[in-house]
Amino acid sequence: MDAVTDSPSLDVSGLAFAYPDGHQALFGVDFTVARGERVALLGPNGAGKTTLVLHLNGILTGGAGTVTVAGLPVGKRHMAEIRRRVGIVFQDPDDQLFMPTVREDVAFGPAAAGMKGAELEQRVRTALELVGMADFADRPPHHLSFGQRRRVAVATVLAMEPEILVLDEPSSNLDPASRRELADILRSLDVTVLMVTHDLPYALELCPRSLILSEGVIAADGATGELLSDDVLMRAHRLELPFGFDPRSVTMGA
Ligand SMILES: Nc1ncnc2c1ncn2[C@@H]1O[C@H](COP(=O)(O)OP(=O)(O)OP(=O)(O)O)[C@@H](O)[C@H]1O
Ligand SMILES: [Mg+2]
Repeated sequence: MDAVTDSPSLDVSGLAFAYPDGHQALFGVDFTVARGERVALLGPNGAGKTTLVLHLNGILTGGAGTVTVAGLPVGKRHMAEIRRRVGIVFQDPDDQLFMPTVREDVAFGPAAAGMKGAELEQRVRTALELVGMADFADRPPHHLSFGQRRRVAVATVLAMEPEILVLDEPSSNLDPASRRELADILRSLDVTVLMVTHDLPYALELCPRSLILSEGVIAADGATGELLSDDVLMRAHRLELPFGFDPRSVTMGA
C-alpha cells in the first residue's frame, strides 16, 4: 500500500483557533482516527465541537496546527480533493440544502466532481434510498420537515462516497424510528465516522471510542462505555446520561 492509504483517515495535531472577534474556541486539539473507526465527539455546549468540525474540510482555517485527511493536509492546495474525502453533515440541515429540489441537492456534490448521466442518477437514487427519502426526490427541500431535511442532508454527503463521514448532532430532532434507521445506515457503511452528539446512548450504541472536547481541548479519549461510566469525568464536563440509563448494562453492537 502507498503512504496515502496507509495513513489514518484523520489526524488533528495542535489545532488552535480564535474567531475573528477574538473569541478563542480551540486551544490545541490532538487526536487520530484510524480508517474504519467510528468515534463520537462529546462535550458540553460551546466546547468547540462545531468549530473543530468546520476545520476538517477547510471551512475554517488560519489557526495553528494541522489537519490531515488520509495523508492529505487540509489547506488551499488540495481543497477540491479534501471536500470529496470529508463528508460533513452540518448541525443545521438548512446550511446544507440550497437547490430547488431534493434530487438536485443530492446530485450537486457528485456533479461538481464531474459525474453525469445515468451514473449520477444512480448515485443520487442510491443515496436517497439509503436514508428512506427516494419518494421525495422532486420535492423542494424547504417543504420538508426538519427530520426529513436532516435525512436529505445525510444523503447529500453519502452521495459523495467520502473517506470520512462527519456528523454534527445527527440524531437531534429525529423521531425514534428515524434515529434507529440512521444508526443502521451508519453501521452498514464501510466508512470512517466522526459523530458529534449530545445523545450519549447513541454514542455508546454506534461508537466504540469517544473523545470528550471541553473548553477547546480533548479532555478524554477512550472506550465509550468506560468514559460514560466515569461519573467524575462526566460531571466535570457537564455530560449527563438520560434518567435511568446505565452504560454498564448496554452491550455494544458489532
Ligand atoms: N462565528 C463565531 N464568532 C465568535 N465566536 C464563535 C463563533 N461561533 C462559535 N463561537 C464561539 O466558539 C465557542 C465554541 O462554539 P462551537 O459552536 O464550536 O461549540 P459546540 O461545542 O459546537 O457547542 P454546541 O454543543 O452548542 O453545538 C463558543 O464559545 C461560541 O460562542
Ligand atoms: Mg455545535
